[in-house]
Order: sequence, then C-alpha cells, then structure tokens
Amino acid sequence: MTAMAPKRKDGLWSELVYIDLLAGPGRGVDRESGREFDGSPLRALNVDPPFDRVFLSDRNAKFVRSLERRIRASDRSRVNFRVGDCHAVAKQVVADLSRKALGLAFADPEGFEVTLSLFQTLAARRLDVLYLFPGAIGIVRNCRQFASLDFHAAANE
Ligand SMILES: C[S@@+](CC[C@H](N)C(=O)[O-])C[C@H]1O[C@@H](n2cnc3c(N)ncnc32)[C@H](O)[C@@H]1O
Repeated sequence: MTAMAPKRKDGLWSELVYIDLLAGPGRGVDRESGREFDGSPLRALNVDPPFDRVFLSDRNAKFVRSLERRIRASDRSRVNFRVGDCHAVAKQVVADLSRKALGLAFADPEGFEVTLSLFQTLAARRLDVLYLFPGAIGIVRNCRQFASLDFHAAANE
C-alpha cells in the first residue's frame, strides 16, 4: 500500500483491494507462549494507507462469525464477508471487481486445500498473490495420505 496508494490520485486504479479467502477467525494463539495475536485479516485492516475494500471469507461459518465480531465498527463498511470454499468465492469476488482494481490476495492454507484453479481465477484481475506454501507443516504431515488418495482415485478411473 505504501507503493500503490500514492498513485491513486492519478486515476490509474478504480480501487485498491485486499482478498483473504482462507481468513480464519481473526486471531491465533502462539504455541510456545500461549499468547494471542492478530491473524492476516486484522493485520490487513490495520495497514496504512488503508485498502479501499477488503474481501474476507472462510469455509467455516463459525470462523467468519468470530472474525466479524473482531472487526472494528469503523472498518465494517469496507469489509465484505462471505462463507464458502475459496475457489467458489474467488469467482464471486473477481466478478465484483472492475478491471481497473488493483490488489493483493493472500492464500494461507493448512495443507492441500488450495488448487491451481484458485490462482487461475485470481489471474483475471490485477492482483498480486501471496501464497503460503505450507511445506514444513501441512505438506509433510499430509503427504502420505494425499499420495494414497491420489493413487486410489487414479486406480478407480
Ligand atoms: C491457516 S488458517 C488461516 C489463518 C489466517 N491466514 C491467519 O493469519 O489468521 C487456514 C484457514 O483456511 C480455511 N480453509 C481451509 N480450506 C478452505 C477452503 N477450501 N476454502 C475456504 N477456507 C478454507 C480453514 O477453515 C482455516 O480457517
């Protein structure tokens, strides 16, 4: 936003947006200290200069309700909440954005939840994508199960 916001006045972009479709409940707990900390959606809302619009969603409706409660009343008008699978929600969000919108999309899965189609959808607009590839956590932990599911699926085709 430090780089993008000053160019707003040139009318290059219609709006600057942040998209977080695996947003979680808004707060996390540090395993070692037990301390709570702000998750990605709350951090994005505190960015200054601010994003014009912020799209937040999660497939877990309970998380979205918690997230809504954690957002300041003064921020609500620029936040769009949804519940649903990130691949489907991404299509709705992209359809809602003008071709002159510019933004950042953050994808933060725990394992293999995100597929290439999410990035194909986001590529229809001018969005930088920050993808946390959970190599040391989700991938290593789930690799054996994922490989065996994939093997069974292929065998059944
Ligand atoms: C690692 S957490 C996100 C943490 C968040 N970025 C933060 O900083 O607090 C991953 C979230 O993705 C959600 N999730 C997993 N698969 C999903 C999917 N296919 N569509 C939408 N949300 C999903 C989970 O419910 C979980 O809340």
